[in-house]
Amino acid sequence: MIVLSNSEAWPGIEETADMLDHGENGLDAILCGIERVEAEPKVRSVGYGGWPNLLGEMEFDGAVMDGDTLRTGAVGAVKNHFHVTRVARKVMEELNHEILVGEGATRFADEMGFQCSNPLMENSKEVWFKKLQEITGESNPDMSKRPLAKLNTLITDPEKVRDTTVFLTKDRNQSIYTATSTSGWAWKYPGRLGDSPIVGAGFYADSRFGAAACTHTGEMTIRANTSHAIVMAMKLGYSLHQAVDMAIEDLKSLRGGFLAGVVIHAIDKDDNYRVVNVGCEGDIKYWVYTSAMEKPQQFIAEKC
Ligand code: GLY
Repeated sequence: MIVLSNSEAWPGIEETADMLDHGENGLDAILCGIERVEAEPKVRSVGYGGWPNLLGEMEFDGAVMDGDTLRTGAVGAVKNHFHVTRVARKVMEELNHEILVGEGATRFADEMGFQCSNPLMENSKEVWFKKLQEITGESNPDMSKRPLAKLNTLITDPEKVRDTTVFLTKDRNQSIYTATSTSGWAWKYPGRLGDSPIVGAGFYADSRFGAAACTHTGEMTIRANTSHAIVMAMKLGYSLHQAVDMAIEDLKSLRGGFLAGVVIHAIDKDDNYRVVNVGCEGDIKYWVYTSAMEKPQQFIAEKC
């Protein structure tokens, strides 16, 4: 049994570990943990505490994957609902589709009975508008009719927030699951999807081999299909360590486009794990809990 997650997981990791300890299903356990992260205003890259897009609107992405069936559920650019992993699970369980975005995803969340909320915190609104004013001199917060493409390149993530929360687990039944949740790239162009709702890029799980999930620059992992590449390499017989090395090589060989940091989180079916900081500034921490530990522990990711 194992659960691996990134540093943002602090509000929920203990509950997840506790549920896994009590033999509960891995997907149930990681969603209870993520729900706490999504509701925590101090986590500034996920759920309620996240940052808005260029229009000052919150748009959330999230996904789940069941490694026994390879079914996924994902939602992208969802407004008014920040518990997106719960909505993503409903996509997986109630629909014949794998991904819903925008108005359709919001409509589906409403239909499934999720409580609508206004998820833009007052503080986020103030910071958003202050930054916009600094860059543009704009005094009117209504950006709806303004061209945004130039601003997107000018503001390029003023808070350097392209983070996410990711949870990967193998439960007592040897079933492997992953889940992701994020408010995405702060000040993003409206409708931008990162890697968190893109199967193969931001997450992948296959109970026969292992799982991977990424945080930070989704624009890179989408191109390199990082999470699937890692699981595929393990399928081909490479060790977890080698599989992650191969994915790092692919990320490092990207040319053009937006290039920055990525953090890879990966587990194999034997409870080995590896977390690598590929080019992010500073120390990046993560959480891990296995049957051999008394409680979840935090470590610093290896750097490369
Ligand atoms: N990895 C999160 C994002 O790119 O939105």
